[in-house]
Amino acid sequence: SMQRTLVLLKPDAVQRRLIGELIARFEAKGLNIVAMKMLQVTPELAKQHYAEHVEKPFYPSLESFITSAPIVALAIDGLDVIQVVRDMLGATSGLKAAAGTIRGDFSSSRQMNLVHASDGPDAAQRELALYFDESEFCDYQPVL
Ligand code: CMP
Repeated sequence: SMQRTLVLLKPDAVQRRLIGELIARFEAKGLNIVAMKMLQVTPELAKQHYAEHVEKPFYPSLESFITSAPIVALAIDGLDVIQVVRDMLGATSGLKAAAGTIRGDFSSSRQMNLVHASDGPDAAQRELALYFDESEFCDYQPVL
């Protein structure tokens, strides 16, 4: 069914000048970008976004990474887009992600894994609201 997901191009993607290449993959797949912005994540936003990880031992390192440089946040629409995008990203660790996935092709790190995507419908709704106002989603008819 039609869904909307949140994708973050993380600080490593911006610093490595990969954002165009990554956005191109989502466009080539036929998904519809309906909102996009560059911003710097604050520690407060990081704690909200990664609420389920705040108590984990890797959280301090994750927070310093995700706040270290700007990110690009995207809202993407498509049929079953939540799972489709997660399949495009590959496994969490770039060391485990299959070749052909974004992380498999561009990352060799568990933390600096270039991209985040919501892992289910509830997460998507919660995470989209952290980065975008309802008024920022663009409704348009993509060609094709
Ligand atoms: P992401 O999909 O954004 O969701 C949680 C993030 O935490 C994950 O990508 C990684 O960047 C990071 N992460 C998950 N597990 C670990 C770990 N064991 N050590 C360090 N970072 C991790």
